[in-house]
Amino acid sequence: THPKEPEKLQWSFEGPFGKFDQAQLQRGYKVYREVCSSCHAMSQVYFRNLGQKGGPFYDSKYPNPNDNPYVKALAADIQVGDIDSETGDPIQRPATSADHFPSPFPNEAAARGANGGAIPPDLSYISKAREGGPDYIYSLLIGYVNPPAGLTIQPGQHYNPYFPGDLTASWTGKGHVPQGGVLAMPPPLSPDRVTFDDGTRSTVAQQSRDVAAFLAWAAEPKMEERKSFGLAAMIYLLILTGLVYASYRRIWRNVA
Ligand code: HEM
Repeated sequence: THPKEPEKLQWSFEGPFGKFDQAQLQRGYKVYREVCSSCHAMSQVYFRNLGQKGGPFYDSKYPNPNDNPYVKALAADIQVGDIDSETGDPIQRPATSADHFPSPFPNEAAARGANGGAIPPDLSYISKAREGGPDYIYSLLIGYVNPPAGLTIQPGQHYNPYFPGDLTASWTGKGHVPQGGVLAMPPPLSPDRVTFDDGTRSTVAQQSRDVAAFLAWAAEPKMEERKSFGLAAMIYLLILTGLVYASYRRIWRNVA
């Protein structure tokens, strides 16, 4: 059985001229930091990336994100593991802009142990790795519903119609096997789970949309550069086409 089609949302970063909405990325970072990061690593993202052009906390006053005081403060809020350079002992210290987002678990066994045997995937590229991208992530987060009567759910598992799976073996109800699957992630969001600094109402839908946008940015932080380069290339090609056509007309001018 196919999972439910993700809801099709409108994203500011869609289309050839799309750009990330910086306020949305900031809200999304907060959702990741305060909720998702307790289970999910994002080890390909560095704190300095938050302050890069197109990023959630980019400030044109600080072209070098390592100088951005806000980015430094965000990093310093987070403890990361390191080795004491004198004693060689493992220590915890505040992160700097040069650190990547830390993993919540020391190793895979610990991650599985805390999550009923499942590993919370690293979210760095999840928006590219899953079909449907941000639409899917949004839908998954808002999609938790009570399982229909006739569906047996194992302890530690949660029914979600948007999660790919095959529920045939757990279905004793009448009619079609329900869409979707079960996953080890409990519904992570609830109303007002995070407080948005810009006053945006913190509904589950809002939190889900914003964290999905943040994950889309994380998976492609250079999207805006790619699009503007592509546009410039198209304009260049258009002009070149005109020039080549004009010279063709000129070269063949006297040929009958
Ligand atoms: C899986 C996102 C919070 C535990 C996933 C997946 C995504 C995701 C996109 C992959 C689903 C797939 O494979 O298609 C998020 C986001 C969160 C969040 C955006 C914050 C809003 C949490 C929290 C926990 C958690 C707080 C732990 C309590 C897991 C686990 C899986 C998972 C264990 C693997 C599920 C399985 O394969 O059965 N999450 N998550 N997540 N998440 Fe989360």
